[in-house]
Amino acid sequence: MEALLVPSLARIDRIIQETPDVRTYRMKFKDDSLMEKFSWQPGQFVEFSLLGSGECTFCISSSVTRKGYFDCSIKRAGIVTADIHSDLEEGDDVGIRGPYGNCFPLEDIKGKNLLFVGGGIGLAPLRSLIQYCIDNRGDYKDFTILYGARTSADLCFKEEIEEWKKNTSIKVVLTIDKPEDTWKENVGVVPKILEEVVKPEIANTKVITCGPPIMIKYTLQSLDRLGFAPKDVITTLEMKMQCGLGKCGRCNIGSTYICKDGPVFTYEQLKALPDEF
Ligand code: FES
Repeated sequence: MEALLVPSLARIDRIIQETPDVRTYRMKFKDDSLMEKFSWQPGQFVEFSLLGSGECTFCISSSVTRKGYFDCSIKRAGIVTADIHSDLEEGDDVGIRGPYGNCFPLEDIKGKNLLFVGGGIGLAPLRSLIQYCIDNRGDYKDFTILYGARTSADLCFKEEIEEWKKNTSIKVVLTIDKPEDTWKENVGVVPKILEEVVKPEIANTKVITCGPPIMIKYTLQSLDRLGFAPKDVITTLEMKMQCGLGKCGRCNIGSTYICKDGPVFTYEQLKALPDEF
């Protein structure tokens, strides 16, 4: 669908409290025909506007294969996101324009083993692709999701993770940074669990990762050590975006604009960016 330049009104159908500071906003356009036409690819983002407060870019955290709605999962991390958390209730309207940006390379990952590596709110953009791939499960081989957070309370999409665990065609590995009394899964940071527990097969595998910058940094180093080629490692960047249209000059790294050239990049592409990344 052609990017919308003017926001359209969407109604919040449901708000899901994922963690103490992350909420998923499930929305549909008020105009039914617009909702029917609205289409996006996993990895794309929208501009979300709260009247009187401002605009923010958020990835769409659900898949187009789940019809009739779209989700944005929003962490409280600044003025606009604090206003979104405090002001918006189910039934309220927000402005949405988009979708914008490129998407995960759907053709490249077909027929491959998929390894998703997520941390914290970084599971949100991965979830759009995970749902898409689950809904087209026959197109992929082995399917592994490694997901971690600082504490068990900080894990997003807990109900959906339980569904993924019941799916015998998916391997789910969870971890938190430090031991907790009732926690029965792995303990340790994501890159450590990747190398010591998941020990992924390299041949014919594509890795898709997203998380806090420090997690991505050490995960990329782990993937290097494990022997993955940078072209087979894909990530998505969301920091610094504002207009989403290549106009405000907030998101560029050298001549690369995250909003227009990304937000999805291979590790090979990231390595070619200037050092400021
Ligand atoms: S977000 Fe404005 S130029 Fe990219």
